[in-house]
Amino acid sequence: MVAARASHWKAPLLVATLPLPPAAVGTPAVEVLDLSHRYASAAGEVVALEHASLRVAAGEFVSIVGPSGCGKTTLLRAVAGLLAPSGGEVRVLGGAPRDAQRAHALGLVTQDPGLLPWRSVEANVRLPLEITGATADVSALLERVGIARFARYRPGQLSGGMRQRVALARALAHGPRLLLMDEPFGALDELSREDLRLELLALWERERIAVLFVTHAIHEAVLLSDRVVVMSGSPGRVAADIAIDLPRPRTDDLISTPRFVALDAEVRAALRGSAPATRGAR
Ligand SMILES: Nc1ncnc2c1ncn2[C@@H]1O[C@H](COP(=O)(O)OP(=O)(O)OP(=O)(O)O)[C@@H](O)[C@H]1O
Ligand SMILES: [Mg+2]
Repeated sequence: MVAARASHWKAPLLVATLPLPPAAVGTPAVEVLDLSHRYASAAGEVVALEHASLRVAAGEFVSIVGPSGCGKTTLLRAVAGLLAPSGGEVRVLGGAPRDAQRAHALGLVTQDPGLLPWRSVEANVRLPLEITGATADVSALLERVGIARFARYRPGQLSGGMRQRVALARALAHGPRLLLMDEPFGALDELSREDLRLELLALWERERIAVLFVTHAIHEAVLLSDRVVVMSGSPGRVAADIAIDLPRPRTDDLISTPRFVALDAEVRAALRGSAPATRGAR
């Protein structure tokens, strides 16, 4: 499986040498083992995650769905090396998350694109490269996410969907081996969301970067993923891990097929079986 996918791999745009050693064949992109996390707050301790485990193979697309407050963002932040978990272990590309982060082997896209309003699209994408001194072909990056025409625009002149494309191009700047996406399309209208979903699907099918993708939209998770991990609410645990055996390349047409409908229903049933949190998935 991994060997077959390697032929799709497009050479990363990064020219500077990365300190991260090449991962051994078969090294998972993400291994989360028995992860627990407690936040201390004025109102007392909040148990965000308890004994959560999951794995993302190299080149695999895995989505996480679960009720609001079940710890999805907490889990993603632990994988990104932005949070030291209270218990358990996280390994990214065979090492510590912080090492993968320092080596710029991770790309992170969240709901808020967080662009600098005074910089052009091109200058926003160039920013992480300026910080690290790495070089990459910024025009090619813009091309990959379909916004080359808007290189000189400022974020304020773009639609929400276009801003998310810029955020994605910026996350791809260092040629990551793992993309972490936390509800990246959550703030978009349904049509922009559909466009971006299909573009992400096409990009992933071309490049096979491992992706860990958080969403509340069940059909989005099923359409994009190799596996859908269903988390249960408060405290967050992994309730189900569902293999999505739909053929690839995938297109929107699949949504009406009996197999798609059955998988969508399976994810939905696993979510209903999960403990209630503050808000259900859509
Ligand atoms: N910095 C923090 N301090 C205290 N509690 C926190 C903090 N961040 C998150 N929490 C709590 O931890 C739990 C999990 O939060 P998290 O943001 O990981 O959930 P989520 O699944 O991403 O939710 P959503 O779907 O709404 O984004 C929640 O109960 C939340 O209130
Ligand atoms: Mg969240």
